[in-house]
Amino acid sequence: MKRSAPILLSNMLVTGILLAGVAAAGSAFGAEGDSGARGALRAALATPQEIAEGKRVAEASCASCHGLAGVGKSKDTPNIAGQRPGYLYQELRVYQVGGRGNTPMNNAVKFLSDDALVKVSAYYANLEPALPAASVGTKTGPAKLDPLSAGKAAASGCAGCHGETGITSTPGMPNLSGLDPKYVVAAVKAYQHGQRKDDMMKTLVSAVTDAELDNIALYYALQKPGKAKTPAPGDQAAGKSAAVACAGCHGDGGVSTGTAPSLAGQDAQYFIAAMKSYKDGSRSESAMKAPAASVDEGTIKNLAAYYANQMPQQPTVRKPLTTEEMAQRCDRCHGVNGNSTDLHVPALAAQRSEYLERVMRAYQKGERRSTAMSAMLDGVSEADIEGLAAHYARQKARAVVFLPLPSK
Ligand code: HEC
Ligand code: HEC
Ligand code: HEC
Ligand code: HEC
Repeated sequence: MKRSAPILLSNMLVTGILLAGVAAAGSAFGAEGDSGARGALRAALATPQEIAEGKRVAEASCASCHGLAGVGKSKDTPNIAGQRPGYLYQELRVYQVGGRGNTPMNNAVKFLSDDALVKVSAYYANLEPALPAASVGTKTGPAKLDPLSAGKAAASGCAGCHGETGITSTPGMPNLSGLDPKYVVAAVKAYQHGQRKDDMMKTLVSAVTDAELDNIALYYALQKPGKAKTPAPGDQAAGKSAAVACAGCHGDGGVSTGTAPSLAGQDAQYFIAAMKSYKDGSRSESAMKAPAASVDEGTIKNLAAYYANQMPQQPTVRKPLTTEEMAQRCDRCHGVNGNSTDLHVPALAAQRSEYLERVMRAYQKGERRSTAMSAMLDGVSEADIEGLAAHYARQKARAVVFLPLPSK
């Protein structure tokens, strides 16, 4: 090794990536007409000597927070070891103009020359990335259930009366199968806040949080629908004729497409009790006042028999993506398991979860600006943000080695 061979700070040699990255970054930056285009490439095309100079910049200006090994010293400080050089350089320039509103970082780079930014980026990019956060698994990792599994778990306390999938087999217990989740949420809240008076239900749902309730309603909505497995005596044919008056709100066959609840498959005993309570005013709902007053006891029994025998339908609810499924969408830009192969797209693998959560919220609130990221995180829930952060913090980070040019 007499000739000035390129320094390989990592044991992995990946050829070809550099050129691919150069092309990608070139076009992206070129399109913005940013003079930083060449700069971003310069960090990837650094010589061993420039990388050594970058290390000196790091010692003087960065190591107190990011360490000389590029592993953040506090949970708030991101790991930058092995991060893609074009991205590092780009972000340092953003901090220089106060673009990310972070005072410690703004101060750290404020008086550094462009040349120093290039070199320090090259230095950190060539380090071995941090190890995946093992501790994250116990903190926010596997314990975090996706909404559907969380809903199933939370609904286990309801199963004794409403059936495991919302299909009741106890007379008097309402069938929850096929109900729109919005209606289920509103009904439970009405018990919680006392608009709907039922002491037993009030006690049973008093500890259910809003998030749990959303998940429970989603869980029921996504189960295979079924009729109540309870007796429904009465004249179904007569009930069918009487139901014509109800179809405007409750839909044909009791499958509602509006705000009124579906009645298809409803337990007959509960149905009769509900009608009675609209009649005597103990359940007050202006829309139901006239319809309830217009039917006598015999007709109610027939209506109950008719509706109980109609097949409920699954409400139109989209199955939420699991964290893994969501992450696959992110990986289109951020690389397999967050190991970006694009020079100016950050790697996410083995990044600190606290930091990832924080920047994702910053994108959502518009505090950190990126068209791609605010579109991607639009409508992503807080639970999903935590799930995604834990997911990426657990991934093994792979270095993309940028071959330093031999010095002259
Ligand atoms: C006083 C502590 C401190 C010093 C000194 C410091 N940093 Fe930072 N750095 C931070 C914190 C905190 C963040 C997260 C800021 C944010 O959320 O925008 C950060 C963020 C960054 C990021 C963005 C990472 C990403 O994934 O987007 C880069 C790049 C970075 N620092 C590089 C450097 C370099 C290079 C230096 C030295 C020139 C330096 N930092 C000095 C604390 C520091
Ligand atoms: C001990 C039996 C029991 C348990 C356990 C129970 N419920 Fe109920 N639930 C009932 C009864 C009885 C009613 C009807 C009350 C009324 O007449 O308003 C009801 C009503 C409801 C309704 C309104 C249905 C409609 O068609 O308007 C919803 C929604 C509901 N329960 C959800 C739940 C959820 C969610 C849980 C678990 C967190 C739960 N229930 C636990 C017995 C139970
Ligand atoms: C103008 C619209 C409208 C018409 C017409 C109407 N309903 Fe309703 N119905 C509603 C609404 C809205 C609710 C939900 C009220 C609530 O939350 O208490 C409801 C609730 C009910 C419930 C309680 C369901 C449950 O799960 O708790 C029953 C039973 C019912 N209606 C039966 C009927 C019958 C039978 C007719 C025809 C004779 C009828 N409704 C006509 C709007 C209507
Ligand atoms: C269309 C491409 C694209 C997709 C898809 C995408 N991202 Fe990004 N992401 C980017 C780019 C470009 C940046 C750098 C933006 C900037 O300069 O702030 C970024 C930045 C980030 C950052 C900041 C990293 C850091 O070190 O500060 C996080 C966290 C992130 N993305 C997470 C995600 C997640 C989670 C998803 C999926 C829900 C996702 N991204 C999907 C392109 C994408």
